[in-house]
Amino acid sequence: MTLPMNERVQHIQLSGIRQFFNLVSKEKDMISLTIGQPDFPTPDHIKEATKRALDEQFTSYTHNAGYVPLREAACRFVETKYNLHYTADEVIVTVGASQALDIAFRTILTEGSEVILPAPVYPGYEPIIRLCGATPVYVDTRHTGFKLLAEQIEPLMTERTRCIVLPYPSNPTGMTLSHDELQQIAQLVKDKPIWIISDEIYSELVFTGNHQSIATWLPDQTIVINGVSKSHAMTGFRIGFLFARKWIIEHMLKVHQYNVSCATSISQRAALEALTVGMNDAHDMKKQYAERMSYVYERLRAIGFDVQKPNGAFYIFPSIAKFHHSSFDFALQLAKEAKVAVVPGSAFSTYGEGYIRISYACAMEELQKGLDRIESYIKKGAR
Ligand SMILES: Cc1ncc(COP(=O)(O)O)c(C=O)c1O
Repeated sequence: MTLPMNERVQHIQLSGIRQFFNLVSKEKDMISLTIGQPDFPTPDHIKEATKRALDEQFTSYTHNAGYVPLREAACRFVETKYNLHYTADEVIVTVGASQALDIAFRTILTEGSEVILPAPVYPGYEPIIRLCGATPVYVDTRHTGFKLLAEQIEPLMTERTRCIVLPYPSNPTGMTLSHDELQQIAQLVKDKPIWIISDEIYSELVFTGNHQSIATWLPDQTIVINGVSKSHAMTGFRIGFLFARKWIIEHMLKVHQYNVSCATSISQRAALEALTVGMNDAHDMKKQYAERMSYVYERLRAIGFDVQKPNGAFYIFPSIAKFHHSSFDFALQLAKEAKVAVVPGSAFSTYGEGYIRISYACAMEELQKGLDRIESYIKKGAR
């Protein structure tokens, strides 16, 4: 007897990052440059605020959309930093940016919808899109410096296009879009029945220039996703945010309510501390990420990799095409022979083939050692 289940779930693959990690995790003396979360500790004042929340018995459900002072603080944060204007009833506090993505997609997509997104791309979008019965329409950004440009979007727009995903700064490439590039996309989409889901989870980690959101130009059609996971080294607290116009927030709130009721109460108090007292906590971390990025970029180039200089997040995405035809095999051999773990580009869609993702969310000494090992591996003649 075969018990029934949702075929769409059956077809979803485990994340390629996880699959690869399982393969190499047993290797001894490995330097791991795979990590997708800050290596910095959560700031002490945030930990103290979390303890206070517990001591004060802040342990019940909050408002479904989130603790009001936190929603107000989130509005002030994005206004001060990115000049975005929202009121507390235009925000939902979610369980990480992951749940924000889930409820945004599930609110706007139906069977047969199409979603345009750049590739290589974070692997968290496609499974949710597929579960909605919708289809991802990938744009190959390997020849546009990993940037999704208006001219690439236009020919792909159909009457089934419901949404465009703008995930900048990008995981896995570290790229950002310029003011003009964002404005051109906004002009193209304006007044068409198409949403933008703008995943800005790395917004506090932009190295040159200030982070800009497409919601600056397109506030009525944009759903902004953000959170404290990367900005405040709080991945385990699971707090994210959705910002959008009130009418669509009210619909997303229904999906959210029947999904999780509300985000964790004590984590919400921690996030309140992060966005108020800790408003600039990311500055020092960003400085260090930027220094590491420059170091890794220069070393990779000196070794002979073709690589684009990132402008944000904590990833770099060099090409391995000179050395191997398969990013998976390259990464596997590198792990087995040189004892350095990186993520094969193929984990970020088929358009990531030919690349590897290196994370520099780790101490400088680890990076130095890792790159020394990569250098001697390449010199020996990578296979
Ligand atoms: C681009 C992107 N969006 C969303 C997420 C999920 O963030 P969270 O941990 O807040 O759910 C990640 C996590 O790695 C990410 O890289």
